[in-house]
Amino acid sequence: MRKRILAAVCVMTLAMSLVACGKKPAGNADTTTPAATEAPTAEGPTEEPTLPGIEDAEGFKDLYADYFKIGTCINPAMLKNLNYRQFIIKNYNSVTCENNMKPESIIDRVATVTTSDLSDGGTHMVLSFKNLATELDFARDNGIQMRGHTFIWHEQTPEWIFHVNFNPDKEFASREVMLKRVDNYFKDTFEWVEANYPNLFYAWDIANECMGDNNSMRDSLWYQTIGEDYLEQIFAIARKYAPSYIKLFYNDYNESVSAKRGAIIRMLKPIADAGNLDGMGMQCHLSGANTVMDVLNSVRKYSEDLGVEVHITELDVKQSSTATDPEAVQANYYKALFNGLKNLKADGVNITNVTFWGFVDNLSWLKEDKPLLLNRDMSPKAAYYAVLEAGMAE
Ligand code: G3I
Repeated sequence: MRKRILAAVCVMTLAMSLVACGKKPAGNADTTTPAATEAPTAEGPTEEPTLPGIEDAEGFKDLYADYFKIGTCINPAMLKNLNYRQFIIKNYNSVTCENNMKPESIIDRVATVTTSDLSDGGTHMVLSFKNLATELDFARDNGIQMRGHTFIWHEQTPEWIFHVNFNPDKEFASREVMLKRVDNYFKDTFEWVEANYPNLFYAWDIANECMGDNNSMRDSLWYQTIGEDYLEQIFAIARKYAPSYIKLFYNDYNESVSAKRGAIIRMLKPIADAGNLDGMGMQCHLSGANTVMDVLNSVRKYSEDLGVEVHITELDVKQSSTATDPEAVQANYYKALFNGLKNLKADGVNITNVTFWGFVDNLSWLKEDKPLLLNRDMSPKAAYYAVLEAGMAE
């Protein structure tokens, strides 16, 4: 307890001075943390990062333990770096594969067209999980639970899976064939997970971004081939095969914009009423255009209107391009968000996870906008201290 208070005082003092003067702390030479052992990769840092003065701070997962899990996305490039691995192990109790569980990474074209029985139009897509070992072993070996991401999406999904005999030169497959493909896809995946990594996954984005930007269902190939009830169908199939400890989530972006939020809730209500939806994933790719209040109101609304859990699944906050001190503005945003989420939880709202879409700016999909908590050399930004401070507040 004394250690925690001491660490809290040190961190808060440093955080306040950083936010006040808009400076980044210099990385210090840390004797307790091993240096990075891997050569930098194309996606990784260009120099070996040394951990700055954040070793004494409590990990996010412990600070927020009474409220919700704290997660990050991971990818193999991140895991090649020992300092990054240590930061993940210390701070997060949930991870999501950034790309390697998406359909294009799992569905094996060569195996599918060469070994599948095509006499009925082809109902079995052959799956390969070989790209997943690094990330799944890392999570399992460090006692970190995983969110599955994602089965049904309009991106990172091969086009040929929608055609008769998996042949892009043929017409689209029928609804019946597509539903059998989904059935086999989910069955094989959950069986593989249960056999190889039992109890590692606790939630899964069954479907991602199915609401269009015009607030009606996206006209994806899933919609076109299966029909307008495809989401209800696929959630029912997921329920049939998912182990009972894996919660079924829907995940989307711009989900705090009120018109889209209303459309998503209307779309998901029948699935929730059928008992096939456990959670709403709010991606939360945020910027100054999204007020913290809109986000907080949306967490409450999804949870209450659908009667499900809410996860924030891909959190990042773009730095302003016009503010005089963009880092301080970003830090204040993160702080208000985390304070608000804690208050919601204390008020009984069912939010159970907050996952960041990475932790170092240079590995973010939005790296130009510096949306995360650490600089390239792992020195903490004001945003890091803001999340820490919100976590320490009583
Ligand atoms: O793997 C190839 C590599 O071989 C090639 O050299 C390189 C050249 O550009 O591309 C690499 O693939 C990239 C892949 O990320 C892995 O780095 C793709 O081009 C790139 O498009 C892909 O972007 C991912 C994006 O989803 C695809 O839509 C991002 O990393 C990932 O962060 C992002 O994540 C999505 C969530 O899944 C859903 N919500 C939105 C979020 C942000 O777009």
